[in-house]
Amino acid sequence: MKTPNAYYKPLAIGAPAPFRERPVSLERMIHFVPPHIEKMRAKVPDLIQKVDVVLGNLEDAIPADAKEDARKGFIQLAQENDFGSTGLWTRVNCLNSPWFLDDLMEIVPAVGDKLDVIMLPKVEGVWDIHYLDQLLAQLEARSGLTRPIMIHAILETAEGVKNVEEIAAASPRMHGMSLGPADLAASRGMKTTRVGGGHPDYAVLSDPASTGERTAYQQDLWHYTVGKMVDACLSCGLKPFYGPFGDFSDPAACESQFRNAFLMGCLGAWSLHPSQIDIAKKVFSPDPDEVAFARKILEAMPDGTGAVMIDGKMQDDATWKQAKVIVDLAKLVASKDSELAEVYGL
Ligand code: GLV
Ligand code: MG
Repeated sequence: MKTPNAYYKPLAIGAPAPFRERPVSLERMIHFVPPHIEKMRAKVPDLIQKVDVVLGNLEDAIPADAKEDARKGFIQLAQENDFGSTGLWTRVNCLNSPWFLDDLMEIVPAVGDKLDVIMLPKVEGVWDIHYLDQLLAQLEARSGLTRPIMIHAILETAEGVKNVEEIAAASPRMHGMSLGPADLAASRGMKTTRVGGGHPDYAVLSDPASTGERTAYQQDLWHYTVGKMVDACLSCGLKPFYGPFGDFSDPAACESQFRNAFLMGCLGAWSLHPSQIDIAKKVFSPDPDEVAFARKILEAMPDGTGAVMIDGKMQDDATWKQAKVIVDLAKLVASKDSELAEVYGL
């Protein structure tokens, strides 16, 4: 572990100082773009208006023979567009791949000044973050960047889950984490071919009723991992995310998976298909009734202490803090989304 004194020191002479307060930004959906496909790059100006984060994907789902075109395509889309308050991220190839080093060596000098976050796949432990942290500092210094590029880890190996707390605390450059249910299932030897979501066989069987009938209640396969990730992230001031939902033909199941993650503390999810953008927007923007009730709590307890009754429900210092989480998020949503600002009355 680094000493507190060393934690915030730039890791290269001339590199920007790490953030002490992480930037506040709305990231309800991280929208994946395959940057080697020209038709997809052409959609980016429109996407910038619709999504909170545009991510150029260089890793899985990009064929090996298109890796270099994807990297070049990402640089091109970053150079050609003005992203305004929409985030620009890339998912680079994993550390042991033949492409990772060139991903970093080419992207940071070319468009590092526009890049908010690098998503690092298959993070196993603190050593992976330290390596990227150091490399980024060197490249930032060489490119004269004045703002640090942040790191977002994908939690998608058994070892990564085991080490999640150390990963979260590895560096002030950490932005957050996403659950990667496909790689994680493979790494753990889980017996599912689904990308996220539930499984009908993962269920608890009720005791037999007097009729002898029994009901199977489907459970959430990802509950344990999401809970562990949320605690690791929030204890370090990072943002937790649900990752991909692979069945585009089942929007209800996608919404349910996103909502479970939202209720447990996640702030967004990946959108891999345009139809998932609106699902994420709906789920990760707080419910207007909840916002109205939370505002009532804050107004009834201006200094956040004491106890009051609202609509028959007890409120105290702790529920004031719960209400503040909802209202703070609603304010952030309202700052970007004028329609929802009106619905929330903010
Ligand atoms: C995402 O990368 C996953 O493996 O689910
Ligand atoms: Mg993966």
